[in-house]
Amino acid sequence: MPLSRRTLLTSAVAALAAVAGGAALLFRGGPPRRVLSAAEKNSCALTVEAVEGPYHVSGMGEVPDGNLNATNLAGEAIELIGHVYDGAVGEKVLTDAEVEIWHADNSGNYHPNGNGPASQYQPSEIALRGFVKTDAQGAYRILTIYPGEYTGRVRHFHFKIRAPGKPELTTQLIVPPKPGDTLTFDTDDIAEGLPNCQLLSVDESVSPAKASFDFRV
Ligand SMILES: [Fe+2]
Repeated sequence: MPLSRRTLLTSAVAALAAVAGGAALLFRGGPPRRVLSAAEKNSCALTVEAVEGPYHVSGMGEVPDGNLNATNLAGEAIELIGHVYDGAVGEKVLTDAEVEIWHADNSGNYHPNGNGPASQYQPSEIALRGFVKTDAQGAYRILTIYPGEYTGRVRHFHFKIRAPGKPELTTQLIVPPKPGDTLTFDTDDIAEGLPNCQLLSVDESVSPAKASFDFRV
């Protein structure tokens, strides 16, 4: 686990101790709040739920090699790595958990720009969707491209996390704006409703760019 992540988790434990009863849990089960308190914004315990949105296609398959952009859509490559952990704190990993991801292309369009079961689309209409599984260390890796902005939304990835014995978690991770972007975090209600740890920190000094996030369910 990267040092920065470990530091973040240590901070999360301290933050949780500071908020009576673990206030982060209060918004775990429903849609994100429009405004979070400073303590909630800085907490990083259980991964906070975010809306599925209108572009989820169900029944997508596993991406065995982690290469989500198998159809080579244009865009800047980004690698997403991390773990799935059991619970708000601690180091118990969840193996064989499904990390499903879907996101817009670099122009802000989904493939397809719709929802429903995968079976209602031609394979050629589907891209940037699928799931990977965590390995024996609870780790996952996804290679894809940066998602683009679209109306009202900063760059973001959608996820569903499915682990044995756990309720399915639907969430989003936010990608920092790039030069020339028209939107910022505070103009995106969904980004505003997530804690800071779900705003990805991307290392662009490496190729492909790399971002790390540990889901906690
Ligand atoms: Fe979206």
